[in-house]
This record gives sequence, C-alpha cells and structure tokens, in this order.
Amino acid sequence: RRVGAPAAAVFGKVRHARLMLSLNNGFSDEDIADFVTRIRRFLSLGDDAPLGFTAEPKIDGLSLSLRYENGRLVQAATRGDGTEGEDVTANVRMVEAVPARLVGTPPDILEVRGELYMDRTDFLTLNKAQQESGGKIFANPRNAAAGSLRQKDPAVTASRRLQFFAYSLGEVSAPLAETHMLSLAALSGMGFCINALSRRCDDVAGLLAVHAEIGAARADLGYDIDGVVYKVDRHDYQARLGQVARAPRWAL
Ligand code: IVH
Repeated sequence: RRVGAPAAAVFGKVRHARLMLSLNNGFSDEDIADFVTRIRRFLSLGDDAPLGFTAEPKIDGLSLSLRYENGRLVQAATRGDGTEGEDVTANVRMVEAVPARLVGTPPDILEVRGELYMDRTDFLTLNKAQQESGGKIFANPRNAAAGSLRQKDPAVTASRRLQFFAYSLGEVSAPLAETHMLSLAALSGMGFCINALSRRCDDVAGLLAVHAEIGAARADLGYDIDGVVYKVDRHDYQARLGQVARAPRWAL
C-alpha cells in the first residue's frame, strides 16, 4: 500500500497533513466508460443526471505539496511514500515559478499540490552545460527536475530553470470553490500556473475528445506528459467517492 520511494535521510521528513494520493490507470476507451459508470452508480446518479469532469495533462515531473500560512510559503515537501515526504523548502524557495507570497486573500492554511518539471529546451541546455563542465548528464527532463531539486546547495537549484503547474489541494482552512475547475481558476488568481489544456467535460465522449486534443498537442507542448488525468469536477462528489487504498475513486 506504499507508493513512490521512501524519504531519504539528507532532507528532513515531513508528514503530509493529507495523504498525497496516487492514481488508478485506464488504458482503453472502455476503461474510461467504466470509470464514468462506476461513479454514477456509486453516487446513485441516473444516466441523465449531470456529472461534470475535468481532463488535464498528466505532467511527467515530480509532485510537491506547498504549504502556505497567511499567504506565505512555509513548507515544501516531496510526495515520498504519500504519507511522509522530504522537506525541500529551502530549495523550492529558489524556484521562481513557485510563489513565495500569494496574491489576494487566500485561506489562512492552504496546501497546493502540483508538479515540478523542466521544459525540454531547458533540459537540453542544462545537459549541454553539464557535458561541457564534466557534470552529471540527465536521462530525461523529469530526472533533471528531480536532480535540480535534490541539491544540498539551494544555489544550484536557483541556477536551474524549473516550472510548476498547480493541480490539486491538500489541507485547506476554507474551500476555494465548489469545483476543481473553479479551484484551479482561484489558484491561478493567487499566482500559480495552471495548465492551459485543462478542460471541463460532461460525458465519456467529451473525455475522449480531450484525450485526442491533448494527444495531438503533445509533441509541441514543450514539456513531457505521460497521460491525461480525469477528475470528477464537484468537490462534494469527490468527498463522497473517497479513495480505495491510495487512489481516489474520483480520478483516473
Ligand atoms: S492529481 C488525487 N493531476 O501523477 C489526485 N496528478 O499518480 C492525485 N500528476 O505523482 C494527483 N499531473 O504527481 C494529478 N494533472 C495532474 C497530474 C498529476 C501529474 C502526477 C502526480 C502523482 C501522479 C499520480
């Protein structure tokens, strides 16, 4: 029941206020249809009752949980095994794409979850520089992002171009919105990057259409993705659906 790698000893450990979840996988159109059917059944919704979803790219980076208190970044942690991650606050403070202070009036406690990643061009530039200086060559942008974060010296992290997309929430002292899509919009207003390809969908055909749209855009995105994530849009439905082991019933 443990996901991901155990926390290493170099960085302090952080116990996540809310578990950092994993995702179940679907591989065919039928799997997507089954996902929707399962959710309708669990929520006792008739075939015609409205049920909204979001579809968004699954970014191939590393997940972070960012804790803000009174609008200020106080802690950044890796996922680790989902229960406990590594304290990477000092290094994440060096990442420009992660706001140190939020815009507007966020809830007193706000944990933002998302993916830290590196654009493909920055990965190539970094590897070229590493080659010239006899440094470590990274196999792919994800490893480059992870390696750039897991530095003893935060100045090294500062010298690397890292990006961050916000995609979900951990502990919050007050809800941001009633739906995932509106929560993303609220996060954008606070200063986070959210993915421009996130879409609202109303049915299986809509979910598959976004998969095709993201698939067509994939080669030109400038960063790596390894799938599409589907989520039930309404937060109250998400809460009712809950999770099985470490994966939510409301996402695929
Ligand atoms: S949602 C319950 N959305 O996928 C929600 N995850 O196995 C859990 N990931 O390591 C995550 N892009 O880092 C979500 N748009 C996205 C994502 C995303 C990438 C990663 C996440 C986690 C893994 C889930």
